[in-house]
This record gives sequence, structure tokens and C-alpha cells, in this order.
Amino acid sequence: MRYITTPIYYVNDVPHLGHAYTTIIGDTIARFYRLQGHETKFLTGTDEHGQKIEQAAKERKFTPKEYTDKISAEFKKLWDELKINYDIYARTTDEKHIAFVQAMFLKMWQKGDIYKDQYEGHYCISCESFFTKSQLINENCCPDCGKITTLLKEESYFFRLSNYQDKILKWYEEKDPILPKNKKNELINFIQNGLKDLSITRTSFDWGIKLPKEINDDKHIIYVWLDALFIYVSSLGSEKEKFWPAHIHLVGKDILRFHAIYWPAFLMSVDLPLPKFIGAHGWWTKEGEKMSKSKGNVIKPKEIADTYGIEAFRYFLLREVPFGNDGDFSENMLINRINAELSNEFGNLLNRIIGMSNKYNDGKISQNGILNLYKNELDEVMQYLKLAIDFLENLQCNRYLEEIFKALNVANLAISKYEPWNLIKENKQEQANALIGLCANILAKASILLSPVLPDSCQKVAKALDFEISKSNYEKLIINNELLDFMASPCEALFPKIEKINLESKQEIKKEEKAKIKIDDFAKLEIKVAKVIDCQNIEGSEKLLKFQLEFDNKEIRQVLSGIAKFYKAKDLIGKQVCVLSNLKKAKIFGHESDGMILSAKSGDKLVLISPEQIVENGSLIS
Ligand code: MSP
Repeated sequence: MRYITTPIYYVNDVPHLGHAYTTIIGDTIARFYRLQGHETKFLTGTDEHGQKIEQAAKERKFTPKEYTDKISAEFKKLWDELKINYDIYARTTDEKHIAFVQAMFLKMWQKGDIYKDQYEGHYCISCESFFTKSQLINENCCPDCGKITTLLKEESYFFRLSNYQDKILKWYEEKDPILPKNKKNELINFIQNGLKDLSITRTSFDWGIKLPKEINDDKHIIYVWLDALFIYVSSLGSEKEKFWPAHIHLVGKDILRFHAIYWPAFLMSVDLPLPKFIGAHGWWTKEGEKMSKSKGNVIKPKEIADTYGIEAFRYFLLREVPFGNDGDFSENMLINRINAELSNEFGNLLNRIIGMSNKYNDGKISQNGILNLYKNELDEVMQYLKLAIDFLENLQCNRYLEEIFKALNVANLAISKYEPWNLIKENKQEQANALIGLCANILAKASILLSPVLPDSCQKVAKALDFEISKSNYEKLIINNELLDFMASPCEALFPKIEKINLESKQEIKKEEKAKIKIDDFAKLEIKVAKVIDCQNIEGSEKLLKFQLEFDNKEIRQVLSGIAKFYKAKDLIGKQVCVLSNLKKAKIFGHESDGMILSAKSGDKLVLISPEQIVENGSLIS
């Protein structure tokens, strides 16, 4: 039995590359276990309660439920479009989950693991996380995301996390559950600094699960992380006994602490077994910068998949960075990997096999002679493939793919080295046939192992060579090192070479095609009110003014605007302006500009657009 989970994603934002990365790793691992014949469940879903979501809904003038239904559906749609084969799509607003969380809370309470007290400290709404003053950075900012925290002073129920300190450390030592292994030490240090009891209820907002009625305290709602973590168990419903504990919880490095410290403590408190592994991956950046909506550099998975294909996208994400490391997204690297690896090493090998077998043998491919003539090549391939499996068991997807491609390279090199066309000329028919048999067997073995990453392409290979990607062939070809005969039939190129298409230019073309936009397109624009904190002329430019603008949470951004002919810099300080705030960053005249100030032009006149009354900085315009 194997149960694999992704984090459930917050619905305060639409899905981006980071979400797709975790989900694609999870999908790959789940497919791999299914291939091996394990009964497998793969969970993904959305995390829908908490202050952050309540705020996001309010800003957009939705009720929290309307808003969560909408964004949760967007996540689901994306996973369907990316052909993610999930078994459970879990939502924390499901009644079944709500009842389960209340039951677990009651169990912890009855056990004596929960007590009521006063909470005083700082809260990061973005991370939905509590901090003490000494943990904050830059005065009052969150040490994890850098955003400003809120000072909280409210009555709260606490979980006796401190009681579990030693038990968690013992679990690490005995079971070694953290992947990659080097992440364990950071956690041990954190725990050894002392675990404080955890505030697990809030009273200052409503959008969350109420305490169990047995506790009779209506003011409180349950802390969003306690609520969210239990989704992994609640979603199994009647299959809990069968699939719990999870085999792997996949998470990003930022939420490892919640999964590797709070979660095992909660589970121990309610007497449930602990997960086998928690795998923490790194973060993707774009050109070295953290992706964020305000910077306008968020990569949309669907756009890449539409431009380059779902499978090339999956391959790139898994191949490009070692599991646990951060990675930088580059379209050039993606194109290079498509051309050099998927097209040259993989797709082209299939074409060569089909071409040669049809030319010399009407498509028939036999295993005869392989073991006599090419045993060394076959042994080398099997070594790579066995290693690949070990790597994937440890979530090292990049090494997994690397080993499989080494195996494919053995086939490609054998063709160049033995030149079957010359063998035929020299009347060495048997050697030529065995060589084609060797290559087809290598390709089939590699395709079986590649199928969790490239399911559709590997199906095409299987169809073209007439074999099945199945558990029984996994056992035959990979575990027992057997060989097969094949019958080749024509097949379109698996990964045609890509000329450098630029995602941006493609988007430009799309834009031009549409004269009228839909309301969804308008929703892509984020227009906010900001206050001018400072405004200066730029030396050498008659047109440009350089603004320092204050948004919500006291975020300051520099924006350039070509209005120097119409306004004096100093007259604008203190005014509120309207800004397109999710525009890609640009450099103008050597100065960075992060947004666009809106103005109206009438003949020769130009006027800034301002709200009719003073509103909070960062207010959204819709
Ligand atoms: N809702 C919580 C998880 C609760 S699980 C019981 C949450 N949600 S999230 O939407 O903020 O983040 C989900 C996952 O996306 C995290 O694992 C996070 O690491 C990952 N990523 C978000 N941005 C990322 C990148 N730029 N790169 C890679 N992954 C990142 O946390």
C-alpha cells in the first residue's frame, strides 16, 4: 500500500510553478508505485480556511465560500489539464473533514494535551504562523517570508508541543523519515532550541472550523495548520485503516517545520501512526528572483505546458534540479533539454529503430543473439536502471532520469560504434539484427521506467514497438532482466526539435489576436492605490519622475513614470495614485520600475488618476 500526498494549496492565489512542481513530483512517484503493482493513493487539494483566505475573499468582494469554491476549482482544472492522476482532491471546507478535525481536537483535549491561556506574540498572516519578538527580522517582519507581522493578544487554546520534543527527536533517530537526509539537522537544531507550546485557536476572525461543541466555547476557531494537516487522514474516510500512515508527504522546504514537528506531535497525541517519509523540495526562482505576484514574474504552468508540451515540462522540472535544492527557471534550459535529451537521445532512438527494422526486416525485431554479441552493453544498461530505481525511492528524480538517459545513451552509442548499415553491407545480418534487438530492448526498458514521468510518450513507444507498459513487463524487463521480441510500426516524432520560441513573444501574438478582452482577462490586472512617499526628477531625463510608493503592509516600491512635463515632483508627495501593480519589472534609464502609475490623457493634457477619497494604501481597484 502506498499513500502519497502533496501539500494542500492555499487558495489566496492562483496556481503557479511551485505548486505544479510538488504536484508533478507526487504524480510521478504515485505512477511509479502503481507501475510496481502497489495499491496507491495520491492526494492533492486545497487549504481553504484562515485569515489570509478570509482577507483575499474580502478584497475581491466575495464571501469566503464563493471565493474558495472558485479558486479551488481553478487548481483542480489545472491538474486535470496537466493530466495529473490524483485519486483524492481534498478540500478543508468538506463537511467530512470539518467533523474529523473537531473529533481530533476533542481527543487531544480529553488527553490533556490542550489547555486554555492568553496568547501574546506576533502572527504572520501570509505564513499563517506564530513568532516571538526575538524571532522577527527587520523589527517586526516574519523570518520566513519577510512580510510585516501583526501583534496578537488574545485568549487561545494551546497544544502541549513541548511534551513531544523528545519523542520527535527519537522518531528522527529511529526512522530517519526526512528526505533529503541533510535537512534533518536543521530540524534537530530547531527542536533542541526548545519547543514552545503552540497556540491552536484564534478569536479575531471567523473563517475556520469551530471548536467541538463538547468544549462549549463558540468564540474560537481552530488554527489553520492544525485544520489543514489533518486533511491527510480525514480524506481517506473508510480507507484510513488501509492507507494510513502515508508513505510520503511531499512539501516545500518552507513548510517542512509544520510537517516534521507539529504534525508528528499531533499524530502522537491522537494515537495515529507517523508517516514514513517527509520529502522537502527546494524553491523555484525566475532569473534568480523569488516569484511573486507583486513582482509580476510568476510562471504559469499552463502557459509553459501549452508552449512546450506537458511532458517536456514535467521532464524539465524533475531533471533540472536535485531534490531539495532551489532551481532557477529558464526557458533556454528547457529548450536545451528538449532538444538534446528528449529529442536526440530518446525520440530519435525510436525513429532509428523503426527505420532500421523496417528497412532490413519488415519491422520484425528479435532478441536472438543479443546475449552472445552485446552482453556488456546490456549489463551496463541494467546497472543504470537498477540505480535509477534506488534514486527514485529517495525522491532524487533528477538522478533517476540521469541514469535512464545513460541507458539510452548506451543504445545510441552502440549504433554509432557498430554501424548496422555497414554490418548489412558486409553480410553480417545476424549481428545487425541483434544490434537492433539490443537497442529496442534498451528503449523498451527505459520507456517502462520513464513512463511515470512521460506517460503519453512512453505509451507511443510501446505502441510503435508493440509491447505493453505494465507491472508484468516491469517485472520481466527491469527486475528479471528478460528480453522481448518486437514488431515495429511507424510513429510520429516524439519530441520534435524546438526552435527558440519565446514564451513572451507567443503571449504577445495571443494578445494581438484578441481585440476585445473577457472579464477574466481584466481580472489578471492588479490595480492598487498607493501613496507617494517620495518623488524625484531623474537626471538626464526631461520626461521621467522616480516615485517611491507605499502599498499595503507598508510595502515600498519604486516606480518610474513619464509625467515630469505635467507635474512637479515635490507637488506629488503625499498624494494617492492608482498603479498597475502586477506589471513585470522593467529597467528604464538604468532605474528599476516595479509597476505603472495610471493617468488619463486628453489632448495635450495629462492627469493622474486618484481615488475620489483617501483609502487604505494597497486597496484593490476592481
Ligand atoms: N496550505 C499550506 C500547506 C498545508 S499542507 C497541510 C501551504 N500552501 S501554499 O500554497 O502556500 O504552498 C504550497 C506548496 O507550494 C509549498 O510546499 C511551497 O513550498 C510550494 N511553493 C510555493 N512557491 C514555491 C516556489 N516558488 N517553488 C517551489 N515550491 C514553492 O503552504
